[in-house]
Amino acid sequence: MKTIMVMSGKGGVGKSTVAVNLAMELSLNGNKVGLLDVDIHGPNDHIILGVEDSEIMTDGKKFKPVEIGNLKFMTIAFAIDRKDPVIWRGPLKSKLIDQFIQDTLWGDLDYMIIDFPPGSGDEPLEVLKIYENKVNKTGSENETLFHNIQGAVIVTTAQRVALGDVEKIINFLKKMKIPIIGLWENMSYYTCPNCGARHYLFGKNTDELAKKTNIDVIARIPLIPEIGEKFGAALFLTRSEGDVREEFQKAVNTIMEKLDISS
Ligand SMILES: Nc1ncnc2c1ncn2[C@@H]1O[C@H](COP(=O)(O)OP(=O)(O)OP(=O)(O)O)[C@@H](O)[C@H]1O
Ligand SMILES: [Mg+2]
Ligand SMILES: [Zn+2]
Repeated sequence: MKTIMVMSGKGGVGKSTVAVNLAMELSLNGNKVGLLDVDIHGPNDHIILGVEDSEIMTDGKKFKPVEIGNLKFMTIAFAIDRKDPVIWRGPLKSKLIDQFIQDTLWGDLDYMIIDFPPGSGDEPLEVLKIYENKVNKTGSENETLFHNIQGAVIVTTAQRVALGDVEKIINFLKKMKIPIIGLWENMSYYTCPNCGARHYLFGKNTDELAKKTNIDVIARIPLIPEIGEKFGAALFLTRSEGDVREEFQKAVNTIMEKLDISS
């Protein structure tokens, strides 16, 4: 089982969109995939997947994830009142994340994708702690699940203000010794419907950061207005055609190749 963290220093850059589409694509390719949303303050993956009306099911002891084909999905959203904001204090937050990783009936998985809130707060630290404690430990029911985290995909847009924050998360991951698979540039350009030209709305600043940090840019996904307009459209990458589909598949393949090398 290979675990991929989807992270960014910045909010709203498309982490959840990338995490859900990546998980879905891997599952459509015949892999057994787990997807966990640990964004306690603003979980979205259940909405992107269109399963917002699901409830947590248990077998009396463990949580049953929502199954969509080969994809097993669990989110903190199922445990909270979705209309009221929740004020989670540190210890409660970590207990909740711990439960969602360890007390979910994930079964046998090929990939586990974890979608994080922006930044390097409690959530990544908690997940890393759980993984570290469980690596090769016997007696844990999800024992085979807890191998090392194979890597992080960092999502960003090309604005300078985003890239500054992203550099911080890169440094955080380096400090934690988590391999960084690559930079995923989202909303890179907009293809003009009139003349077909590609407009790079935020410039091409990601290349500079890539060079400076020695991390590859593994995807450049355009801004697609339908995605922003309609939340359900957010599964667009797995359904897209032409150039976008090609770029997306290339990115997914790169991630898989890099995981094979690092494991
Ligand atoms: N390539 C894209 N083109 C157009 N809209 C996009 C694209 N990617 C994401 N969006 C839209 O941008 C918004 C933010 O995306 P998303 O929720 O995936 O970001 P996030 O980084 O997970 O945000 P948060 O920090 O709140 O968790 C959403 O409305 C989403 O539908
Ligand atoms: Mg998100
Ligand atoms: Zn034009």
